Amino acid sequence: MEKTMLDSIRETAEYIIKEVGTAPDTAIILGTGLGELVDHIEIKKELAYKDIPNFPVSTVEGHSGKLIFGILGGKYVMAMQGRFHYYEGYDMKQVTFPVRVMQQLGVRKLFVSNAAGGMNKEFRVGDVMVITDHINLFPEHPLRGKNYEELGPRFPAMTEAYDRGLVKMADDIACEKKIRLMHGVYVGTQGPTFETPAEYEYFRVIGGDAVGMSTVPEVIVANHAGMLVFGVSVITDLGGKDVLEVPTHEEVQKAALKAQPVMTELIKAMLERIG
Ligand code: HPA
Repeated sequence: MEKTMLDSIRETAEYIIKEVGTAPDTAIILGTGLGELVDHIEIKKELAYKDIPNFPVSTVEGHSGKLIFGILGGKYVMAMQGRFHYYEGYDMKQVTFPVRVMQQLGVRKLFVSNAAGGMNKEFRVGDVMVITDHINLFPEHPLRGKNYEELGPRFPAMTEAYDRGLVKMADDIACEKKIRLMHGVYVGTQGPTFETPAEYEYFRVIGGDAVGMSTVPEVIVANHAGMLVFGVSVITDLGGKDVLEVPTHEEVQKAALKAQPVMTELIKAMLERIG
C-alpha cells in the first residue's frame, strides 16, 4: 500500500521519540535573527535532518540543518536549526512537514522568527517586530488537497493565528527590559526576489508592515494543528518608493545579527514566564 502523509509523519515522530525519549511541548523555528539562541540551549540531543526519515534536507550551502533538544529558559524545548523555504523548490507539504511532526510529538506552542523588509515608516533597520497577523501571498497553500481530520479541520479559522496572550507577554517583557518592540502584519511572499519599490508600496497599502519569504506556511499548519503561535521578525531593510538603498542578502544577515541579542533575550524571558 502506498505510504500516506500520515504514515510519514508517524514514522518520523516515532524515530524522534526513539532517539530523544520524551518530546517537549514547545518548539522554536530558528529563522534569521534567532540562530544565536542555540548557544543558550543546554543541549541534550541533536538530530541531523539527513538522519531523520522523511525529513527534507536543507539545500542552502553550509547549512546543515538539525533538530536540537534541550533546556532554554528553564524549559525543555525542541529547536529547528535551518528551515525549508518555498523559494528553494520545496513544495508546501515539505516546507511544513516538520510542523506536522511537532504536532505528532505533542508540541502545543510554536515560536518562529524571520528576517523581513519593513514598509511601515516608523520602522528602522534592526527593529524587532512581533507579528500580530499575516497576509498569505504564497502561490500554493499548505492545506490544499486531502484533509486529514486527525490533523485538523477542513476549514480552519485564522482569526488569531498569532496568540494574543503571547503577544501581550512579549509586550510586558519588552516594557520591563526597555526593549523597542514593534507590532505588525507580516506579508508572506514566495521570493526569491526582494520587492520592487512599487511592490513594497502595494504591500503597505493592503495592510502589511513587513514582508518576507517564510513563516506563513508553518504558521498556517501550526494553527490547523491547534498550536499557539508566537512570531517575530527582524527588520533587516526598508522598502518603498522613497527608499534608495538596495537590499542584499549580506545586508539582511548583518542587520539580523545585530538584532540577535534582543531576540534571544525576549524569547528566553518568554520561555521562563511560560514555566
Ligand atoms: N523582502 C522580502 N524578504 C525579505 C526582505 C525583503 O525586503 N528582507 C528580508 N527578507
